Amino acid sequence: MAGPRHDDVSGSDRPPPPGANEQSAAEAPVGPLSYGRFGGPPTSDLPPGAPPLAHWIDARLPVLSYLRREYVEYPTPRNLNHLWNFGAFITVTLVLMILTGLFLALNYEPSVAGAFASVEAIDRQLPSGWLLRSIHMAGATLFFAALYVHIFRSLYYGSYKRPRELLWLTGMLLMFMVMATAFFGYVLPWGQMSFWGASVIVSAVSAVPLLGHALAALLQGGAILGDVAIHRFFVLHFLLGFAIAGVVGLHVLALHVTGSNNPAGIEARGPGDTLPFHPYYTSKDGLGLVVFLLIYAALVFFAPGWLTEADNYLPADPAVTPAEIRPEWYFSPFFAILRAVPSRSGGVLLAGLSVLLLCLMPWLDRSPVRSARYRPVYRPMVIVLAMAFLTLLAAGLHPPNGIWLLLSRIAAGCWFGFFVLLPFVHRIETPRTLPGQLAVADPA
Ligand code: HEM
Repeated sequence: MAGPRHDDVSGSDRPPPPGANEQSAAEAPVGPLSYGRFGGPPTSDLPPGAPPLAHWIDARLPVLSYLRREYVEYPTPRNLNHLWNFGAFITVTLVLMILTGLFLALNYEPSVAGAFASVEAIDRQLPSGWLLRSIHMAGATLFFAALYVHIFRSLYYGSYKRPRELLWLTGMLLMFMVMATAFFGYVLPWGQMSFWGASVIVSAVSAVPLLGHALAALLQGGAILGDVAIHRFFVLHFLLGFAIAGVVGLHVLALHVTGSNNPAGIEARGPGDTLPFHPYYTSKDGLGLVVFLLIYAALVFFAPGWLTEADNYLPADPAVTPAEIRPEWYFSPFFAILRAVPSRSGGVLLAGLSVLLLCLMPWLDRSPVRSARYRPVYRPMVIVLAMAFLTLLAAGLHPPNGIWLLLSRIAAGCWFGFFVLLPFVHRIETPRTLPGQLAVADPA
């Protein structure tokens, strides 16, 4: 894959002297001319045709050959469909969120007295402040939408299975971090929903058996939600954005160890089964990104208020409870589970468990076949799981009574039933015949 290493001192293609690499550190010549790790000249892994400056840089800091290996030559299964675009969508949204967030942070004031007014000033007085805020807010919605598709894609095609367990677990860690970041961020404008949403969450945290009260006190930093809490939430929100970017690096690193899974769920068996990432998947991701960014722009420019709660444009007032306290849509499925249970601590436990169970997927599913395409029992189960998720999402946005309460209980039953039945599915399932190689697999 990588070309021969090149001596870059003279810029020529002269190979290193025979035996240079076997030379031990102890024998290496010491002096002003010995600068490679083993005393030889620094070398570059770039192909001979690359510009001399690129060789010069790569010999000292091999990022160019790394990028070439991992994002140009990187062998990618030839049958990936557009559901494999979503990782790129989330990554681009993350970059936009961090950039816009940095500018928002420069103008935000983390205090009870100043938070609401500083956000209003960003919207109304800061040049293009409304645009920055709108990109940041629409980004949160699109981030979660893309994340949920990304997760269900991985569930459907069995991407969590051996040898991708750590890839899956880094993904789950990202999901927890993203949820925490979104919660902290939502509190920052200190509007009515920010305040009352935070109150609900802090009281839910305090209902966690044993640790609850200590955790809630740590979050809140005092007897009431006030200056200390806003300050903590601001610092955590800021910090987590960068921490997420770091964990995404680990996630993609883990992905590049095993390579991508694919709709057939079998490993690529040779060069005929793969294509170089560039230009094939850079263009496929690029095309998907154009559509994704058009939707993003439509939300930012034509419907900035569509995804926000009117109540959050009223300053927080601890004396006036809003008629209905609802979380953002992306927390709604877990909120619905929380409310489906009559006991408060039982609801909190089940809502937490509903996400935690996902972490166990690589060990709960014992079938040797990955893709749901070839699994006649798993396939309907994972479709029901997705439908249960959407039903819970809708139920969480409605008052918890009548039909919505019933639906949320049925959907919660389906959600947990999936994880209870999963370890036994391989015993009754006869998978369809798998293709021998990707080149002859069904079209994606
Ligand atoms: C900040 C959030 C995340 C980012 C930026 C991210 C990014 C990516 C990227 C760029 C890829 C490669 C392209 C693709 O397969 O779509 C990928 C693959 C993958 N991600 Fe994520 N991801 C995130 C969260 C998650 C979560 C929450 C999970 C699930 C728990 C997850 C599980 C996976 C798996 C299993 C793959 C490999 C898929 C395959 O090869 O079939 N990711 N991710």
